[in-house]
Amino acid sequence: MRSTVMFYLCYLLCVAVGLACVACVCVWNSRWRGGFAWDGSGLQFNWHPVLMVTGLVVLYGYGAVLYRVPLTWGQNKLPWKLLHAALMLLSLILSVLGLCAVFDFHNAQKIANLYSLHSWIGIAAVALFAAQWTAGLAGFLLPCSPVWLRMLLKPVHVWLGGSILLLSVAACISGINEKLFFVLKANSSGGPYSSLPSEALLANSLGVLIVAFGLVVLKILSNTEWQRPELGAYRTIFFDRCEEDLGLFLLPSNHTVPLTLINAVFSVHFLLLDHEL
Ligand code: HEM
Repeated sequence: MRSTVMFYLCYLLCVAVGLACVACVCVWNSRWRGGFAWDGSGLQFNWHPVLMVTGLVVLYGYGAVLYRVPLTWGQNKLPWKLLHAALMLLSLILSVLGLCAVFDFHNAQKIANLYSLHSWIGIAAVALFAAQWTAGLAGFLLPCSPVWLRMLLKPVHVWLGGSILLLSVAACISGINEKLFFVLKANSSGGPYSSLPSEALLANSLGVLIVAFGLVVLKILSNTEWQRPELGAYRTIFFDRCEEDLGLFLLPSNHTVPLTLINAVFSVHFLLLDHEL
């Protein structure tokens, strides 16, 4: 009970900090950076931070903690899997659009591509995310993927999921810092970065909020008490059913059970249970 209350407090914090990140990045780019356009100008660049923070940090984090909500535990996992996949797909689409915004802007302004540490970390995060999403779809949602593959894939999927979040937080922090150094020069209206003008105050706060969001999501993901009780339950159900079936075969009867019947019994069990993984 106490653990559930703690979970919902953390979850509320996660939702609130995520919304604050989106609000901050939108206000920064509309109020201080002149707003948005898609014309190769600096206004097109402004889509980049907004889409990256909203997609690859906030929506991604919300999608990652979805299975931890205890309300979903007693229910069939398949609809939650579909929602998880849909949230992650939306996050991936926003991230790719965010990358298109900055690549297009660089090409229009004849600025070199992929020269900075920020861009290397960022492109690695998006590439890993695309690979993770594809492997997740093939491994966990396609009905033909075998249970052993799901069991093998799951720890890798969980570890890579956390790592991608860390990479995207690192990309955001370095991106915010880089942008502030680019625009807040001695001759800019608010003064240099070192004089901490109001724009820098807001953008620094955005960075702090993004780090806080990442930490809250990782805390939720790493607490074992908040994990959907599935693998143990799965194994128990599976092996109980196997024992029942073996009991059937061991009945003192003088007939042999056809192999196709055994296959059919096991196939039904996999159909019933494989969406638990
Ligand atoms: C997960 C989030 C992010 C990812 C994956 C990401 C990725 C990238 C990539 C791949 C580039 C290189 C584009 C090119 O070479 O043409 C880039 C450029 C840039 N990004 Fe981000 N970015 C992210 C968030 C941000 C944020 C929040 C800001 C804050 C303003 C930002 C600021 C910049 C700047 C100033 C550039 C141009 C300079 C450079 O190439 O380093 N980025 N970003």
